[in-house]
Amino acid sequence: MDNVILDVRNFNVTYVNKYKKVYAVKDANFSINRGDSLGIVGESGSGKSTMAMALLRLLPEKSTEISGSAYFLGKDLVKLSEEELKKLRWKELSVVFQKSMNSLSPVHRIRTQVEDIYRVHNPKATREEIAERFIHLLKLVNLSDRVYNLYPHELSGGMLQRVSIAISLINNPKLLIMDEATTALDVVTQGQILDEVVKMEKEMDMTRIMITHDMSVVATSCNKVAVMYAGEIMELGYVKDVLKKPMHPYTKGLMASFPSLKGKKEKLQSIGGFLPDLSKKYEGCIFAPRCSSAMDICQKKPPVIEMENGRTVRCHLYGGER
Ligand SMILES: Nc1ncnc2c1ncn2[C@@H]1O[C@H](COP(=O)(O)OP(=O)(O)OP(=O)(O)O)[C@@H](O)[C@H]1O
Ligand code: SF4
Ligand SMILES: [Mg+2]
Repeated sequence: MDNVILDVRNFNVTYVNKYKKVYAVKDANFSINRGDSLGIVGESGSGKSTMAMALLRLLPEKSTEISGSAYFLGKDLVKLSEEELKKLRWKELSVVFQKSMNSLSPVHRIRTQVEDIYRVHNPKATREEIAERFIHLLKLVNLSDRVYNLYPHELSGGMLQRVSIAISLINNPKLLIMDEATTALDVVTQGQILDEVVKMEKEMDMTRIMITHDMSVVATSCNKVAVMYAGEIMELGYVKDVLKKPMHPYTKGLMASFPSLKGKKEKLQSIGGFLPDLSKKYEGCIFAPRCSSAMDICQKKPPVIEMENGRTVRCHLYGGER
């Protein structure tokens, strides 16, 4: 277990408002070892960001219920006090969102903002020390040191997102969560940034969770994948195993709806139907209305079946009471 950075067990996240509850993450179980890069993939609304925000405890406590456990370096994130979380967040545990670049102030130079951010955890750091550290990170994300003295409005969207990634790394986090961090960028810039992320995490001995709706992002930048549907992890395993032989009908559908990674020209198929209403509780398999392999037994909740090499599949096709 020494190698485990994050261990998530029976993790549930429910949004609660005056009129209804939304069961956004249900019974999630996974663990990440040091050096892993776990892709969390699924359609829009499947609960990916909710999972990340809940792990970081960034969701408002008033309107969310979180249960289960999420041990990060031996401490349960679900139970930590706000004071303890502050020590971890943006330091040991960092995050980049799709819109992270928008949180840079347009009226201050990058340098000034980086100094302020770094001094939250390192109040005595000198300007020279911070500059040296950040310019090294700029190089890792393929930006010139000139950027350090510029204002955000002088940079393109792709450059700004690279700056956001560099900022997220300033405290040398153990775990970085990237939530659709490259989605808004053009395909070439996205590909370059992914290559840089993979290179720099080796240099920095970092572990990563990559949230995306795009299977090709997982294929090019992750070693493990969790496929989420309607708040549930349907399939989990090493990317090489899952992409070679997807088992869950939803994973198969998701893969058929993305261009072939080997460049073969095949007609893309979308998965018919819509995500279910997450404010309802379902007795059987939540994917059944869209599943072409559905059977009578699927009216019962499918168990999580453990396969070899750490793989799990939540589907009656692979065992249980059939
Ligand atoms: N504050 C909220 N209150 C109630 N329901 C919410 C709230 N935020 C999100 N949801 C619901 O929770 C579910 C999961 O949303 P989430 O944003 O986690 O999905 P996602 O997989 O990140 O989607 P996307 O790919 O579009 O970013 C959705 O049904 C969404 O409508
Ligand atoms: S449990 Fe049944 S309905 Fe659900 S994915 Fe498997 S075969 Fe399809
Ligand atoms: Mg999201």
